[in-house]
Amino acid sequence: MAENIDYGSEQTSIPPDGRPMEQQPRWRQDFPIDWPIDEYISRRDFVKFLMLTSAAFTTGQFYLLARATFRGEEKLAEKAIARVEDIPVGGSRLFEYPDGSPARLLVRVDEEVFVAYEQQCTHLSCPVIPHTDEHELVCPCHHGVFDMMTGRPIQGPPQRPLAQIHIEVRDGVIYATGIEERTS
Ligand code: FES
Repeated sequence: MAENIDYGSEQTSIPPDGRPMEQQPRWRQDFPIDWPIDEYISRRDFVKFLMLTSAAFTTGQFYLLARATFRGEEKLAEKAIARVEDIPVGGSRLFEYPDGSPARLLVRVDEEVFVAYEQQCTHLSCPVIPHTDEHELVCPCHHGVFDMMTGRPIQGPPQRPLAQIHIEVRDGVIYATGIEERTS
């Protein structure tokens, strides 16, 4: 909406149709040819920009705070993801948990031990690949490496551990029972 502002009549040009500035088309108000008006609009836009930027910043901080406060283990309904006999020692399998999620990775480390994590590298989301002999999960994109037993980064750019999928083995079936997001 046009504002009634005295820019100093001696310093402003008169539009060709002679009407006051507030009755001029929007383009003439937004692109003035006189310095006093131009500077006023620049200042006004700058203040608007500052207010929007600080509002966005504050909202972002609240979002991060809420996320940090409420992240942790996510309780989900358990889901059968594989049979023990289907995965050889050193083998792995991708699964969804919960249904429709990004890929999760289940690895059989030895006869008794299974581990499961989100498959997306915490650097830029490339899929990690199990190197079971080295007990590592390797991200080929930028040579990031995670410890297979903990999901924590041990080499390369990733700074955060992989989210861990909690699992239980009962009667020869492996179940996913929850997800733990971790920041460190
Ligand atoms: S995306 Fe994995 S190291 Fe960069």
